[in-house]
Amino acid sequence: MRVIYVGLLLLALTNAQKWNITSDAKDPDTNTFKVHKDEVITVSFKVILNLTNNTIPKIVATTSDANIVSVSASSPLQESHVNNETVLDGSVNITGIFLGKAEILLTIENDSSSEKLKVIVIRPARIIDKLFTGSVITLISILYINFGCAIEWKVCREILKKPIGPLIGSVCQFIMMPMIAFGLGQLVFPKNPEMQIGLFFTGISPSGGASNIWTIILGGDLPLSIGMTTISTLASFGTIPLWIFTLGKYILDKGEHDVPYVHIGSMAIGLIIPLAIGYFIQRKFPKVCRIMVRIMKPFSVILILFIVIFAIVTNLYLFKLFSWRIIVAGMGLPWLGFICGSMIMAIFRQPQGAIRAIGIETGIQNTGIAIFLLRFMGQPDADLTTVIPVSCAVMTPIPLMILWLVKIIFDRRKKNSAASMEKLQLDANAPVVLPSSVSTITA
Ligand SMILES: *[C@@H]1O[C@H](CO)[C@@H](O)[C@H](O)[C@H]1NC(C)=O
Ligand SMILES: *[C@@H]1O[C@H](CO)[C@@H](O)[C@H](O)[C@H]1NC(C)=O
Ligand SMILES: *[C@@H]1O[C@H](CO)[C@@H](O)[C@H](O)[C@H]1NC(C)=O
Ligand SMILES: *[C@@H]1O[C@H](CO)[C@@H](O)[C@H](O)[C@H]1NC(C)=O
Ligand SMILES: *[C@@H]1O[C@H](CO)[C@@H](O)[C@H](O)[C@H]1NC(C)=O
Ligand SMILES: *[C@@H]1O[C@H](CO)[C@@H](O)[C@H](O)[C@H]1NC(C)=O
Repeated sequence: MRVIYVGLLLLALTNAQKWNITSDAKDPDTNTFKVHKDEVITVSFKVILNLTNNTIPKIVATTSDANIVSVSASSPLQESHVNNETVLDGSVNITGIFLGKAEILLTIENDSSSEKLKVIVIRPARIIDKLFTGSVITLISILYINFGCAIEWKVCREILKKPIGPLIGSVCQFIMMPMIAFGLGQLVFPKNPEMQIGLFFTGISPSGGASNIWTIILGGDLPLSIGMTTISTLASFGTIPLWIFTLGKYILDKGEHDVPYVHIGSMAIGLIIPLAIGYFIQRKFPKVCRIMVRIMKPFSVILILFIVIFAIVTNLYLFKLFSWRIIVAGMGLPWLGFICGSMIMAIFRQPQGAIRAIGIETGIQNTGIAIFLLRFMGQPDADLTTVIPVSCAVMTPIPLMILWLVKIIFDRRKKNSAASMEKLQLDANAPVVLPSSVSTITA
C-alpha cells in the first residue's frame, strides 16, 4: 500500500512539472500575469506528456470570470519529442476586459492535470492618474498646513470643560464609525475583501473639515465642532494605525494583502510635517496665519469637490461598478454616523446644538484621507476601492441638504408668524395675548 502512495505522490510531483508557461507579462515573483485593460497578451505554454498513443490531446482554456478576462481557444499544438516524452507547444491569447483578478485554467482533455494562471487586469499607466495622486497629496498637505495654522488650543480647552460631548464624539468617531464600516462591509460586500477595505479605511478616517461648515449652516455648536475636528484629526495619527493593525489586518489577510506598514508610516510623517509647518506659521507669523485661515476655510469643501469630480472624470469607467452595493455602502456609513452620533448625544441629554454638532461630526469623514490611504494599495485595488470613499463623499451631503431645506422653511415660517404677531399687536385695539404654547410650537 505504502509503495502505491509513494508512487502516486511521485506522479503528482511529476504532474506539477509538466507545464512550462512563458509570457512577458508574467511576474516571476508572484507568478501572476498582468494584463492592461483592453490589451491582448499571448501566453505560450509547453506540456510534457507520455502519450500512450499518437493522438494529440486538446487543450481547453477557461476563465473564472469572463467579465474580467477572456481567453481564446488554444492555437494548434505543435508536437516534438524529447527522449521518450512528447512535448506539446501551444499558446492562448488573454484579453483584459475590466479591472480585477481572475484565473485561467488550462486543462488537457481527458487528463487530470491542469494549470492555473492567475491574471490581474490593471489600467494602462496614464499621466492623468499620476496627476490625480499628485493633486490628492498636494491638496491634503495644504489642508494640513492650514489645519496646523488653525489649531486653537483655547477652543479645545474650552470644550473639554464640558467633557461629555467631546467624549461621546470621540467614542462615535474612533470606535463606532470603524465598527459600522467593518460591519457594513461584511454585510454589503460579503465576498469582496477589497471593497471591505475601501469602506473600512473610510470609516477610520478622521472627521472632515466640511463638518464645521455644515454645523454653522444647521445651527449646531460651532466651537464643539471645531474642537472635535481638531481632536479627531490629531488622534487619527494613533487610531488609524491601530485599526489597520487589528481589524484592518483581518480584512487585508482575507484579501491576501500585506499590511502596508511602510506606507502607513510614510503617510503619518507626510501629514505631520505639513501640520507642524502650519503650527509653526501660527506661532511665528500669526498675521499670515489669520489670512491663510480665512482664505482656506472653504478649502476643505473645494478639496472634496475637486477629488470627487476628478475621480469621477478620470475613472468614469469605474462607475460602471457603481452597483447598488456601492451606493448602499456610500449612503450607509455617513448616514448611520449622523443618526447614531446624534442619537447617542440625545440619550445623554446633551443640548440641541451639541447634538447637531456631534451628529454631523461623526457622519462626515475626511474621505480625502481615505483615498490617500488607498492609493498605496497595489493596482487594480487602489483604483477599485477608491470608488467607496468617493461614493461616501457624494452621498454625505444629501441628508444635510434636506435638513437645511427643512430648516429654511421652518425659519421662514417662524419669521412670518413672528411678523404677523407684531402686526396683530400693532393693529389690534386691544393687545392680543397669544398663549405661550403657540410660540413653542412654531419655534
Ligand atoms: C521553460 O521554457 C523556457 C524556454 O522555452 C526555458 O528557458 C525554461 O528553462 C523552461 N523552464 C522549465 C522549468 O522547464
Ligand atoms: C514519462 O515516463 C517516464 C518513464 O516512463 C517518466 O520518467 C517521466 O516522468 C514521465 N513523464 C511525465 C510527464 O509523466
Ligand atoms: C488512443 O487512441 C484511440 C484512437 O486512436 C482512442 O480511442 C483512445 O481513447 C486513445 N487512448 C488514450 C489514452 O488517449
Ligand atoms: C493571438 O493573437 C495573435 C495576434 O493577434 C494571432 O496571430 C494569434 O493567432 C492568436 N492566437 C490565438 C491562440 O488565438
Ligand atoms: C524509450 O523507450 C524505449 C522502449 O520503448 C526504451 O528502450 C528506452 O530506454 C526509452 N528511453 C528513455 C530515455 O526513456
Ligand atoms: C475524452 O472524454 C470525453 C468525455 O469526457 C469523451 O467523450 C471523449 O471521447 C474522450 N476523448 C478521448 C480522446 O479519449
